[in-house]
Amino acid sequence: MKIIVTGGAGFIGGNFVYYLLKNSDDEVVCYDKLTYAGNLETLADAMKSPKFKFVRGDISNREEVYKLFEEENPDIIVNFAAESHVDRSIEDPELFLRTNIIGTSILLDACKKFGIKRYHQVSTDEVYGDLPLDRPDLFFTEKTNLHTSSPYSASKASADLLVQAYSRTYQIPATISRCSNNYGPYHFPEKLIPLMIINALNDKKLPVYGKGINVRDWLYVEDHCSAIDLIIRKGKVGEIYNVGGHNEKTNLEVVKTILKILGKSEDLIEFVTDRKGHDQRYAIDPTKISTELGWTPQTKFDDGIKKTVAWYLENKSWWEKIISGEYKNYYAKMYDNR
Ligand code: NAD
Ligand code: DAU
Repeated sequence: MKIIVTGGAGFIGGNFVYYLLKNSDDEVVCYDKLTYAGNLETLADAMKSPKFKFVRGDISNREEVYKLFEEENPDIIVNFAAESHVDRSIEDPELFLRTNIIGTSILLDACKKFGIKRYHQVSTDEVYGDLPLDRPDLFFTEKTNLHTSSPYSASKASADLLVQAYSRTYQIPATISRCSNNYGPYHFPEKLIPLMIINALNDKKLPVYGKGINVRDWLYVEDHCSAIDLIIRKGKVGEIYNVGGHNEKTNLEVVKTILKILGKSEDLIEFVTDRKGHDQRYAIDPTKISTELGWTPQTKFDDGIKKTVAWYLENKSWWEKIISGEYKNYYAKMYDNR
């Protein structure tokens, strides 16, 4: 089969490209606009495979997307392409609406026009909003109401609704996955875990929002990839699957763990102004994907975080190039005087 991975030069999409090349005989085409978050160096090893091809393009450009479908005639689309950072969406929502909503609708139009065996939308647990910190008994299930907090999550929820609408109205064979926070190799340094690893390595302050008590449910990226792989092959058309491995941690716990692994002082922690509308707690109930598809995560947080820190230590050239470029302006804008 031929699988198009949109957003495959980003964090999870890049890991998914490698997952497919390693675990299947499928041909893989990565379609990516190469925004600030897309990085061809992430795909350097994939480029050596005869099963892999890279096409630069924008999911919100109808002409480019139709040309892609005409030329590649794909069996499956897995859509990772998105603006993915909550803080950026709070600063400037518009691009999130264009890429995440219009881009998804154009991919769906292409599926309708050219035909497809499966369209998979990579969504997020953020579409459910948040859970209170004092109710550890509550979890997001596939039946939890959509209740978004940020322009990012609102754009992802809108995209999910479009996927469901196209599936019902035009019989597009679509599935949706809603995963919790991922971590692992190739994670762009604007996000909590890579930002904290890199700042600690450079003996820079670690900016923790608010009191650091917000809870995220961390999943090693390879486990997310295995879940998506299972859904596109065995998942039921029209269904939504939540993905998560019950690894809930406060942000402060995560940051302290990273400092401990690196042998750095907790004095590096600096509490800064909280994120606007900051979601308190995310927690996935993965019962459906576990019981219906037999998915189980393989990596525990304690092991995954050590592997991740080791990856950043061994791949300095990957992230040093990023933090010495435009990222410097982003960092100054978001964190100076916060
Ligand atoms: P990322 O920001 O690292 O990568 C996004 C990729 O999409 C980049 O390569 C970028 O160049 C590409 N892209 C952006 N706009 C595009 C466009 N218009 N056309 C084509 N390509 C475009 O994101 P990520 O963290 O890897 O997330 C991937 C997907 O998974 C997103 O849809 C996100 O909502 C979802 N998700 C992420 C997490 C997480 O913890 N990171 C968890 C659950 C779901
Ligand atoms: O839950 C899935 C979502 O996880 C994905 O849909 C998003 O694409 C992904 O970015 C992630 O969203 P979060 O907002 O949870 O991730 P982020 O890494 O930005 O922040 C994690 C937590 O850490 C959050 O509570 C905010 C906090 N934080 C973040 C940064 C960047 C800090 O305290 N300091 C920081 O500098």
